[in-house]
Amino acid sequence: MTSLPAFANEPVLELRRAPARETLLAALRALDPKLPLPVPLWIGDERRAGDALVSTDPGTPERVVAVAAEGGADDAVAAVEAAREACTGWTATPAARRAELLVGAAAWMRVRRAELAALAVRECAKPWAEADGDVCEAIDFLEYYARGALALDRGATLVQVPGERNEMRYAPRGVCAVISPWNFPLAIPTGMTAAALAVGNTVVLKPAEQAPGCGFMVVRALREAGVPPGVVHLLPGGGEAGAALARHPAVATIAFTGSGAVGLGLVKVAADLPEGATQLKRVVAEMGGKNCILVDADADLDDAVPAIVSSAFGYAGQKCSAAARVLVHEAVADALLERLAGAVDVLTVGQAESFAADVPPVIEREAQERVTRYVRLAAEGGTIAAGGHDVPETGWFCAPTVVADLPEDSAVLHEEIFGPLLAVERVRDIEAACDRVDALPYALTGGLFARNPRTVEQVARRTPVGNLYVNREITGAMVGRQPFGGNRLSGTGTKAGGPDYLLHFAEPRVVSENTVRHGLVVD
Ligand SMILES: NC(=O)c1ccc[n+]([C@@H]2O[C@H](COP(=O)([O-])OP(=O)(O)OC[C@H]3O[C@@H](n4cnc5c(N)ncnc54)[C@H](O)[C@@H]3O)[C@@H](O)[C@H]2O)c1
Repeated sequence: MTSLPAFANEPVLELRRAPARETLLAALRALDPKLPLPVPLWIGDERRAGDALVSTDPGTPERVVAVAAEGGADDAVAAVEAAREACTGWTATPAARRAELLVGAAAWMRVRRAELAALAVRECAKPWAEADGDVCEAIDFLEYYARGALALDRGATLVQVPGERNEMRYAPRGVCAVISPWNFPLAIPTGMTAAALAVGNTVVLKPAEQAPGCGFMVVRALREAGVPPGVVHLLPGGGEAGAALARHPAVATIAFTGSGAVGLGLVKVAADLPEGATQLKRVVAEMGGKNCILVDADADLDDAVPAIVSSAFGYAGQKCSAAARVLVHEAVADALLERLAGAVDVLTVGQAESFAADVPPVIEREAQERVTRYVRLAAEGGTIAAGGHDVPETGWFCAPTVVADLPEDSAVLHEEIFGPLLAVERVRDIEAACDRVDALPYALTGGLFARNPRTVEQVARRTPVGNLYVNREITGAMVGRQPFGGNRLSGTGTKAGGPDYLLHFAEPRVVSENTVRHGLVVD
C-alpha cells in the first residue's frame, strides 16, 4: 500500500431514520446479555484475567459493564519491556505496511460499529449520537494517520546544491505510553495510539479506569488487524498504573489526554530524568478548559440559542470542548438569557440509551458531587435562570443549570466543572469579552456569534484558544477538518487530527552526503 484514496470522514448515522436507530438498539440488546465484559491485562501474547477493576453504567450503577485485570507497577514495567523489544521490528516495518494495518483496524471497527457504540453507551453513558460519533472519530484517526504515515515516510524537502545530497527523515522515538480519559473512550485512545504506531513507535495503552471495556476494543481492533503482539499492549488500571508507566526510563513519549492536574504532573515526571536515561521524554498533553462563547449585539439569537444549548449540555457538558461560559453583549443579554432559560427548561434528563433524552448522567458519583457543589456555589453567588429538572433517582444525574449575575471572581467562572452548568455574563462589548477570555489560564475552544466580519476577524486575532468556532456550536471537531487541541494550560499546542500531529511522535534526522567523488570506484 503505497498510496491510499484521499481521506474522507466516516459518515455519522442519520438517527432521524428509524432503521438506523433500530440497528443501534439491536446492538444494545445483543450486548447486554454479554455483560460484564472480561478485560484482560494484555502484554504481548499473554492475557491475564482479573476482576480488581470494574466499570459500571453511570445511569444504572448496579449494572457492571466490564470486569478487568488491574495492572500494577510491575505490569507497567513488563509491558514497557515487551514494547521496547518490539521496537526494532516495528521500526523496520515499511510505513506502507503500518498504514495497511491501521486501515485494517478501521475496517474492523467499521464492521462492529453498532456494537462499539452500544458499549460506549453502557460504559460511559454516551448518548447514541455521541457514541456513534466517537466510533466514527476512532475510524477517522486510523485512516487519517495511516495516510500521515505514508506522507511522513517521504521525508521533508530540503535545499539541494551541487555536490551535496540532503535528506530529512522521520524516525520513531521508541516506546510511547498512551494515557487516555473516559469521555471519548474509543476515539481518544485510538487516536493517540494510532499516531504513535503510524510513525513506528510501539505503544502501551493505559485506558481510563472508568472505561477499560472500550480500551480493550481499541487494542483488539489493532491486534485483529494484524499489528504484532509486541507492538501494542493493554494495561488496564488507575492513576498509579499510569504513573508507573510514565516514569519508566524506556518510555520516550507520553501521550496524555485528561485533566490539567494529571497532565502537569506528567510534565514533571518527564523532566525528572531517571538515572541512566539516554533520551528526553516528550509529553504530548491535551488537558482541560473553561470554554467561552461570545455573543455580540448583532448576533442571530435563533442560531445562537440552540448552538449554546448543545455546546453546554450535550453529553452533560462532559466534552473537553463544551461551553462553560457565555459572554453576551449587554444590549441582547436579557433576550438571550430568557431564551436560553426557556430552551434549557425543556431539556429532558434521562438514560443515554433513550433517544428522547437530551442530558445523560455524568460519569460517576464523584462527578455528580462535584457538579452539585458548583451548582450550590452558583446559587449562592448568582441567579439561577434554569435548572431543577426532575432527574431519574438512580444513576449519576445532574439537572442542566444556567446561572447569571455571578461576581467576576466566582470559582464557577474560573474552574473546570466538567458537567451541565453554564454561566452567563453581561459584557459592555466584544472587546471586554475578549479581555475576560484572555485573563483565563485555559485556551481550548471558544465560540463567537456575530454578523459583522470585522468582529469575527477581531476575535480571531485576539483569542488565545486552540479552536475558535464562529456562528456554530463549539463541540464536534472533525478529524482533518478541525485539527483539535488547546494552548496555554489546556495543552502542549498539538493538534490531534491535523497535518502536524504525527511530528510529535517522530524524531527528525538529517543526512548530508558529499557527492563529489574523489576518484572513480570500479567494480
Ligand atoms: N484537551 C482535550 O483534547 C481533552 C479531551 C478529553 C478530555 N480532556 C480533559 O480530560 C479531563 C476528563 O478526563 P479524566 O477525568 O479521565 O481525566 P484524568 O486526568 O482524571 O485521567 C486521565 C487519565 O490519566 C490517568 N491518571 C490519573 N492520575 C495519573 C497519574 N498520576 N499519572 C499518570 N496517569 C494518571 C487516569 O487513570 C486516566 O487514564 C477533563 O479535564 C477534560 O477537559 C481534554
